[in-house]
Amino acid sequence: IRWQTPLSHMRRTATQDIEFGGKLIRKGDRVVMWYASGNRDETVIDRPDEFIIDRDHARHHLAFGFGIHRCMGNRVAELQLKILWEEILARFSHVEVVGEPARVASNFVNGFTDMQVRLHA
Ligand code: HEM
Repeated sequence: IRWQTPLSHMRRTATQDIEFGGKLIRKGDRVVMWYASGNRDETVIDRPDEFIIDRDHARHHLAFGFGIHRCMGNRVAELQLKILWEEILARFSHVEVVGEPARVASNFVNGFTDMQVRLHA
């Protein structure tokens, strides 16, 4: 979820002046929170561009947002993925991507419209 970051960002409107990271954000300013960027922050995440499935603190990421609006369904989403991979791995040894995947043309959803795969027993 961190490495892929399905939703790239969300936006907020500042309710008061605040200095953050050396920048002044004024009341009414619109602020974009790039989860995709935070999830590749090399000051927090070791080798952030690498997919390391058994890395320490694997659930420590921003792909479900942060704070009071953090994703309500994050545990359901994790459970769905866990079951999906359990069932796939019980049936197939290898999933081969054949051909070039087609991406969703969006700066919000980081997804695919088409990905052809071959499943090997
Ligand atoms: C991989 C799958 C998912 C990802 C990456 C994801 C990501 C997110 C993100 C980034 C937010 C916004 C947090 C914010 O605005 O600060 C959010 C909010 C939310 N998500 Fe998800 N989500 C996923 C699956 C789900 C599922 C399966 C459900 C419901 C069963 C769900 C329900 C919600 C709800 C209700 C909110 C709004 C929470 C609020 O505004 O207080 N999400 N999600």
